[in-house]
Amino acid sequence: MERTLVILKPSAIQRELVGEVITRFERKGLRLCGIKMMQLDDDILSEHYGHLKDKPFFQRLKDAMMTTPVIVTCWEGLNAINVVRNMTGSTNGQNAVPGTVRGDFSMSMQENIIHTSDSEENAAIELNRFFRPEEIFEYRKCCFDYLYASDEV
Ligand code: PPS
Repeated sequence: MERTLVILKPSAIQRELVGEVITRFERKGLRLCGIKMMQLDDDILSEHYGHLKDKPFFQRLKDAMMTTPVIVTCWEGLNAINVVRNMTGSTNGQNAVPGTVRGDFSMSMQENIIHTSDSEENAAIELNRFFRPEEIFEYRKCCFDYLYASDEV
C-alpha cells in the first residue's frame, strides 16, 4: 500500500471545499490515515517549495499559503500516489480535466485547491515534513474486502 500527502490549500478553505475534497478521496476508497489543521510559516514553505526557489512566483506562492491555515491529510491505498494525482488534475485549473478537483473547482495555477505528492520519494519526504509518526494511524476499513480483490493486496 502507498501513502500520499494532500494539502487542502487556503483556496479550499476559503471556497468551502474542504468536505467536498475529502469526500471525493473517501468515496474513491482511499483510507484516511492522518488529518490536521496547521498554520504554515515561511520556513516550512521554503522547504516544501524549495524546488521553486528561483521562480518569480516563489514568495507570492508562499504568502498565499499562509493567508489561512491549511489542512494536511494522509491517504493510503494501492497505487495511491497516482490515483490521487489523477483525481487532482493538472497544475493549472484552466487546463485541468473536468471531473478532477482542479478541473471542477479551480481557474488558477496558484489557487488550485490542493497540493498532492508527485512521486513515492516525495510522498515520503512530504509526509515526514507535515506529520509526526504518531499522527499517522493504522486501522482496517470495514469495507476493505469490498475495495480490493484478494490477489490485489
Ligand atoms: S512548475 O512551475 O512547472 O514547477 O509548476 P508545478 O510543478 O506544476 O507547480 C508547483 C507548484 O507551484 C505553483 N505554481 C504557481 N504558483 C503561483 N504562480 C504561478 N505562476 C505558479 N505556477 C506554479 C503550483 O500551484 C504548485 O503548487 P502545489 O502546491 O505543488 O500544487
